[in-house]
Amino acid sequence: MSIEKMRRTYTLSGLDKKDVDPDPMVQFDVWFKQANESPLPEWFEVNAMTLSTADPQGAVTSRVVLLKQVKEGEFYFFTNYDSIKGKQLAANPQAALCFFWPHLERQIRIEGSVRKASRADAVAYFQSRPRESQLGALVSRQSSEVSSREDLETRMQELIAEHEGSEVPCPENWGGYALKPTWIEFWQGRPSRLHDRIAYKQHDGGWKQVRLSP
Ligand SMILES: Cc1cc2nc3c(=O)[nH]c(=O)nc-3n(C[C@H](O)[C@H](O)[C@H](O)COP(=O)(O)O)c2cc1C
Repeated sequence: MSIEKMRRTYTLSGLDKKDVDPDPMVQFDVWFKQANESPLPEWFEVNAMTLSTADPQGAVTSRVVLLKQVKEGEFYFFTNYDSIKGKQLAANPQAALCFFWPHLERQIRIEGSVRKASRADAVAYFQSRPRESQLGALVSRQSSEVSSREDLETRMQELIAEHEGSEVPCPENWGGYALKPTWIEFWQGRPSRLHDRIAYKQHDGGWKQVRLSP
């Protein structure tokens, strides 16, 4: 296998300013639905996105999280507030999201500021999760070091017993973040690396569309 020889030619479609909605949130919705409607392998998670955060010194970290809601112009994900992302967002509430939908040869990049979602949002979403995920959230002190896999499993068994027959409470350090975009870019792969990129930046309380060089 030669990594440097790996490449694909993107031919599925093009993207022009006239093809996109003037509101990038509407355009996101259109592309998200198309991504999700395509015949998809069962393992593919359309709502998986790379989230990048940075500490105040500029050290950046990226990881995948799941988009769980889009409402009133904000993108929501849920996590542990004591994780690396949580600590970085507390100190520097700027973040970037990136979706890659290879089956459509599309990428969406989103940048903006992040706020903690309300406790009511956290509890409502937590209660909608499968019970094992709820208990898993209770077990996990996300991104802290653990001595062994067995420790996690023992803690899980203890919590299963502790909460048997009762609702699993949403941990205080667990909840959502809402990212309000100031920049959204829609990327469509094209042949010869002349990809189409239509971006929206905030301008006078509205959105200004621009075409970017590939
Ligand atoms: C497909 C996928 C989905 C994930 N979804 C989430 C998520 O929604 N929330 C979350 O906290 N971590 C999620 N993770 C785990 C994160 O990538 C990461 O390991 C964890 O949040 C700790 O990151 P941090 O301490 O850098 O913030 C997901 C990982 C993968 C691969």
